[in-house]
Amino acid sequence: MKQLNILTFAALMAAPATSLRADEGQWLPMLIDKNIAQMQQMGCRLEADDIYSLNHTSLKDAVVIFGGGCTGEMVSDSGLLLTNYHCGYDAIQYLSTVEHDYLTDGFWATGRADELPVPGLTVTFLISVRDVTDSVTMGLTPDMPERQAAQVRRRNIELIERRAVGSSHYTATVKPFFNRNQYLLFVNEVFTDVRLVGAPPSRIGKFGGDTDNWVWPRQTGDFSMFRVYAGADNRPAPYSAANRPYRPRKHLTISTRGVHEGDFTMVMGYPGTTNEYAPSHNVAMTTRDINPRMIELRTAKLDVMNRHQKQDPAIRIKYDAKNASTSNAWKKWQGENTGLAHFDAIGKKQAYEARLTQWIEADSARRARYGSILPAYAQIYPRYAQLHLADRYYGEMCYRGGIETMEVAAMVRPLIETTLDGRKPTRQHIDSVAAELELFYKDYDAALDREMSARVLECYLGGTPAQCRPATLTPDSAQAVALRITAGICADRARMMAALARWNRRTARRLAADPAMLLLDTLTAAARRHIDEYRQLADTLRTLDRLYMKAQMDFEPDRHFYPDANFTMRVAYGTVCGYTGCDGTRHDYFTTLDQIMEKNRTGNPDFDIPERLAELHRTRDYGSYAEDGQIRTCFVANNHTTGGNSGSPVLNADGHLVGLNFDRAWDGIMSDTMFDPAICRNITLDIRYLLFVVDRYAGAGYLLREMTFAR
Ligand code: ARG
Ligand code: ASP
Repeated sequence: MKQLNILTFAALMAAPATSLRADEGQWLPMLIDKNIAQMQQMGCRLEADDIYSLNHTSLKDAVVIFGGGCTGEMVSDSGLLLTNYHCGYDAIQYLSTVEHDYLTDGFWATGRADELPVPGLTVTFLISVRDVTDSVTMGLTPDMPERQAAQVRRRNIELIERRAVGSSHYTATVKPFFNRNQYLLFVNEVFTDVRLVGAPPSRIGKFGGDTDNWVWPRQTGDFSMFRVYAGADNRPAPYSAANRPYRPRKHLTISTRGVHEGDFTMVMGYPGTTNEYAPSHNVAMTTRDINPRMIELRTAKLDVMNRHQKQDPAIRIKYDAKNASTSNAWKKWQGENTGLAHFDAIGKKQAYEARLTQWIEADSARRARYGSILPAYAQIYPRYAQLHLADRYYGEMCYRGGIETMEVAAMVRPLIETTLDGRKPTRQHIDSVAAELELFYKDYDAALDREMSARVLECYLGGTPAQCRPATLTPDSAQAVALRITAGICADRARMMAALARWNRRTARRLAADPAMLLLDTLTAAARRHIDEYRQLADTLRTLDRLYMKAQMDFEPDRHFYPDANFTMRVAYGTVCGYTGCDGTRHDYFTTLDQIMEKNRTGNPDFDIPERLAELHRTRDYGSYAEDGQIRTCFVANNHTTGGNSGSPVLNADGHLVGLNFDRAWDGIMSDTMFDPAICRNITLDIRYLLFVVDRYAGAGYLLREMTFAR
C-alpha cells in the first residue's frame, strides 16, 4: 500500500537533481528518491528504497527517537541501541548512587538480568508517514483571521490523529512543514521498557567537557548503550521482568573500515529546529537584540555557578548538570553570532530580498500576492523584538533556573490558588508537589541562588525595554530582592516541607505572601501586560512566514527546497572533509587516542582520562580497532545537522554504521540559520573507538557478539 500522497509535495519540490546544492539540507526520507541521483554521484551505493520503503524494511526502521530530544539506532536483533553519552546522561545519573557511581566508574551489564530499567525513558519507532495537507486545511478560507484558522486546523488535526491511531497501539502526530504550507502525519510506535546496558566513565564519555564542547578537534567517547524491551507479542509493554528484548524490523550493520577524506557519509536522525528561510529582519533580531542579552545573562549565571562549584565539591556535583545545560546554549549562541557576522548573513539575506522584491515588482499578480510581505516584516520586527526579548527574559528567569526559587513558586502556586479559592487540594496533589520539590532541593544551594538571582535580575532590569518590566523594580533593587527571596520559605527545604505536611488555608496564605511568590507574581504580571499584543504579532508573523516561504519557492522554481527541521526524521548527506577555520587554522578530518594523551592531565579537569585507558595506549593494545597503528576517536564531515541529531547513526556509502553524530564545530554553528559546506562540520564519534572502549577498555566484548559487522 502506498501511503504517501507524493503529489502535493512533488508539485512544490519538482526539480531536476542537478539544481541541488551538495551537502546542505535535511531531507525527508520518504522523498529521498529526489536526491538519490546526486547522492550516488557523491559515492553512495544505496537506492532510495534502501533508505525508506513502505513495502519492505529499510534503514528508517533502525533509527529511533531516544527519550525526548535525541536520536538512537538499533544495532542488534535483540533491541540493542546506541546513542550519545550526553543523551543517556540523565538516565546514568538517575541510576547512580554513592555505592554505585556509574558516572565515575561506568557501567557494563554482564548479562540481560543486569540491565537497569530507566523509568520514564521511551524509544520511538517511525511506522509510516502520509501527506495530510488537504485534510488539515479543509474548511479554511483565504481571508479567515489567523486565530480562527488555527482553530479549524487544530480540530482537523485532532480528528486525523485520532483516526490514524484507531484501535491500534500506535501514536500519531501531524506536523507542519515549509512554514505550514504542508502537513504530514507520522504514525509511531513508542516503547516504554528501556534499560541501560553500558556506559563508559564520564571521563571518557564527557572527555573535553564544556571546554571542548562545540569545538573541533575533539576526542569525546560520547556514547552509551541501552536495550528496548517488549511484551511477549514483541509490542510495547510497561516494564515487567517478564518482558523480552525487542526484535526490531531492522538493525544496522557496522563497518570497521573507517572513513577517509572525500568519503560519502549520511546522517539519519531527528534534527530539532532550524530557521533557514527566515527574512533578514529575523536574523537581525536574533543576533542583535536577543543573543547578546541572553549571552550576558548566562555569563552572569555561569560566573556565579563556576565560582561556587570550585569552592565546594558538594555544590560542584549539585550544579554539574545545570552548569552543562546553561553553558551549552550560551556557547552555541556565541558561535552562532560570530559565524553569522563573519559570513554577513544579514547582508546576504538582504541582497536576496532585494532580488526577490525586484521579481515581485515585475508582475502585477505577484505584487498583489507577495508585495506586502517584506514591508510588513520591516514594520513588525522592531516591536516584536522588544516583546520577544521580554518573553525570553521571563523564560530564563522563571523556567530555566535563572532565579531558582521561581521554579518552586511556580510548583506551589496551583496549590495556593486551589486552597484560597475555597477548594481543598487532594493529599495526592500535595504529595506529588512535595516529591517534585524534594528533587529540586536535592540539587539546590540557597547561597549560590542568592548571588545568581541578584545578577540575573540586574541583567533583566537593565536589558528589558522599560515598558515591559515591572515599575516597582529597578536595577539597584536587585540585591535586596535576591536577599529577600532566598531568605523566604521557597528557598528553605525544611520550612517548605513542613508547610506541605500540614497544609491548610493559613499555610496557603503565608506562602502566597512569601517574597519568591510575590516576585513570581510581579514578573508574570509584567509579562502578561503585553501578552495580547505579543500573540497577535506572533500570529501575523506566522502568516507572513507561510506566504514568504511560498514566495521563495515561486521565485526559485528550480531550487530543491528542504523543509526546516521540526524533530521529524531526516537524511543529511555530505563528505568527510577537514576544513580551514575562520582564523586560518587548517583542521584534519580525524582525531586520535594519541591526542587524548596529549590533552590528558594538563591541569584542566575536563581532560583527565582513567588510568586504564592510558595503559591501553602505553601498550598499544588496540586489537583490530586501529588504523595505521592509531586509534581514531572522532571525525568531521559536512552533513547538515542540528540539535536533536545527537546520537544519529552516521552511515557510509553502503549504509553501514561508521559512527555516532554528537556535535558541530565552532566556526559553523550558524548552520541553523545559514549553512555553508565550506565551514560547517558535524562531529562524529568513530564507531571503532566505541568498539575499542567496549571491548578492550571495559572487557565487555560479549556485547559486540550480538552486533552485525560488514565483511
Ligand atoms: N554541543 C552538543 C549538543 O548541543 C553536546 C552537548 C553535551 N556536551 C557538553 N559538554 N555539554 O548537544
Ligand atoms: N549536540 C547536539 C545534540 O545534542 C547536536 C548539534 O547541535 O549539532 O543534538
